[in-house]
Amino acid sequence: MQSVTRFNAFKRNQQKFSMVTCYDYWSAQLIAASDIDSILVGDSLAVVMHGFPSTVHATLELMLPHVAAVARGAGDKLIVADMPFMTASTDLSGGVAAATRLIQAGAHAVKIEGATHQCSLIAHLCEAGLPVVGHLGLTPQSVLQLGGHKVQAKTHRAADEMIQNAKRLEDAGVSALVLECVPAKVAARISAELDCAVIGIGAGVAVDGQVLVLQDLLGANGAFAPKFLRKYANLSEEVVVALNDFHRDVVDAAFPARCESYA
Ligand code: KIV
Repeated sequence: MQSVTRFNAFKRNQQKFSMVTCYDYWSAQLIAASDIDSILVGDSLAVVMHGFPSTVHATLELMLPHVAAVARGAGDKLIVADMPFMTASTDLSGGVAAATRLIQAGAHAVKIEGATHQCSLIAHLCEAGLPVVGHLGLTPQSVLQLGGHKVQAKTHRAADEMIQNAKRLEDAGVSALVLECVPAKVAARISAELDCAVIGIGAGVAVDGQVLVLQDLLGANGAFAPKFLRKYANLSEEVVVALNDFHRDVVDAAFPARCESYA
């Protein structure tokens, strides 16, 4: 049974865990065949898969088919899905309805950015038995207000505020907390002070788990290379080489060969 209790178990056993984003059936099957612990159907799919300039363009209707496709391919991996822009900020019933649809599409938990007015919805969902993962630091849905993709909590005051917000989220019932682009020391303190698991992206090594966007870690996302990213492959180049090899074989009438043709 896929359950967010896995995050707690990892933290209790001081065992680091991995999470990658996934937006489609094909890559979900690859992740299912790997050792990766959990999947995030991130609203970053609006940017990575649909070419929008930011995640504010991820609507519920855009996200749902991706969640369902991932769920069909992900085997027994734990799936978290992002609550799209503003769905946790309109009213309680709107938030409950959006979270319910993501769970019914195949997610095992929803992720909600922010810790101010979102806390009442988070507490309500958790009390109702719908698991929630929090998200603080660089929260891309607020990019217009943050003025860009910048490291957060760089002053003592901002760091203290983030720690208070993390505690507020834990009190509201989150099962885990994503920290994005946060100084390593601040993230380490939050991880030490919370009982729930902290998942970092650009948040240093002293947190409980790490998440990266699949296309980024595979080197399939062009020139995107923030400081926190380690590329484990160079897929963009390899794919272009394979495509060019196919094209050349077609042009040279070298494909298909006799063994690839029906008698
Ligand atoms: O949408 C996303 O991919 C995310 C991760 C970057 C944490 O929220």
